[in-house]
Amino acid sequence: MKDTVLKGFEKVYGDTTGVRCFFAPGRVNLIGEHTDYNGGHVFPCALTIGTYAAVKKRDDSLLRFYSLNFENIGVITADLKDELKPDKERDWANYPLGIIWAFAERGMKIDKGFDILLYGNIPNGSGLSSSASVEVLIGYILKELYGFKDVTNIDLALIGQFSENKFNGVNCGIMDQFAIAMGKKDSAIFLDTNTLKYEYSPVKLKNAKLVIACSNKKRGLGDSKYNERRAQCEEALKRIQAVKDVKTLGDLTEEEFESVRSAIGDPILEKRAKHAVYENRRTVKAVEYLLKDDIDTFGKLMIDSDTSLREDYEVTGKELDTLVREALKVKGVIGSRMTGAGFGGCTVSIVKDEAVDDFIKSVGEAYKNEIGYDADFYTVEIGDGPKEI
Ligand code: GLA
Repeated sequence: MKDTVLKGFEKVYGDTTGVRCFFAPGRVNLIGEHTDYNGGHVFPCALTIGTYAAVKKRDDSLLRFYSLNFENIGVITADLKDELKPDKERDWANYPLGIIWAFAERGMKIDKGFDILLYGNIPNGSGLSSSASVEVLIGYILKELYGFKDVTNIDLALIGQFSENKFNGVNCGIMDQFAIAMGKKDSAIFLDTNTLKYEYSPVKLKNAKLVIACSNKKRGLGDSKYNERRAQCEEALKRIQAVKDVKTLGDLTEEEFESVRSAIGDPILEKRAKHAVYENRRTVKAVEYLLKDDIDTFGKLMIDSDTSLREDYEVTGKELDTLVREALKVKGVIGSRMTGAGFGGCTVSIVKDEAVDDFIKSVGEAYKNEIGYDADFYTVEIGDGPKEI
């Protein structure tokens, strides 16, 4: 991959003298969905697939961006002398520009630009956080190229989220950027999004693999119902707060929720809040089971998570539902659920080694029959956070 971005750089910008190469992973969330903006727990891990960059600092204030994934768009330019603001014309470059802007907001303004070429092997829009991967990658590059040595990886996650919220207009939580910036090989991250306390938990699947099924239904977080779900949870919390002193939905146990749920007074808001509360508790339990090496119960909780996302949070849709339903018909599937924001994107399944081929074949065929186009399958590995390569 280093070769790919170096060759690309040479083709687009000419000379590669002084070019440096970097990588940041994508992520998959094993359990704890739509809990990160509700003060709950998440359990994601970084992947070995991600975004690669070849980059070189310039002597002037020009910024040039090029992605091998969007060659038709060509080179996108911006100038640090101008005010940085979101610009539809700049397409995907709004993610890196947002990070440069967010660094400046934190007092880390740069005045010399750079030429950069990116290549990602995360399927775009798949729910494996290709955008957060770019955000953390650019943050890491700014830190390394411009000498912002005090910036920690947790800062990179927070800067990425800040930029996504304020520059790109998606009110995402901290999960994606945190999982990517703090990724660790063969471990998932058990993160309390209320306090940012986290623990690494080894993912020992024994004789099984993590298989991602990508629905190929495209979605953009910005135009999805993501922000609406978040607002619904905030409204439900407000109504609960009228009868109980609680800071986030993640602070409630199932019993506490049941005792106050009538205060919400709206069936839709009640379902949204129920998901947030139960999913958080389920995540805590799931991690306990994983630590005890009880993968089967972990898998069952993944399935419960999916049911809740489908019935109460209503963020699945027929593509994801088909993938999970068909997955659960395959012998050797330990758990399966949608992962990420939903409304398209992908599912993650734990599949016994000997069942992987059958899984890909039978889920793939059933999906094509029902939906009319192919799903893509990836057997993935858990990898480290950002690094220079
Ligand atoms: C997206 C967001 C995350 C998180 C998930 C749902 O990936 O970026 O912050 O809310 O959806 O769990």
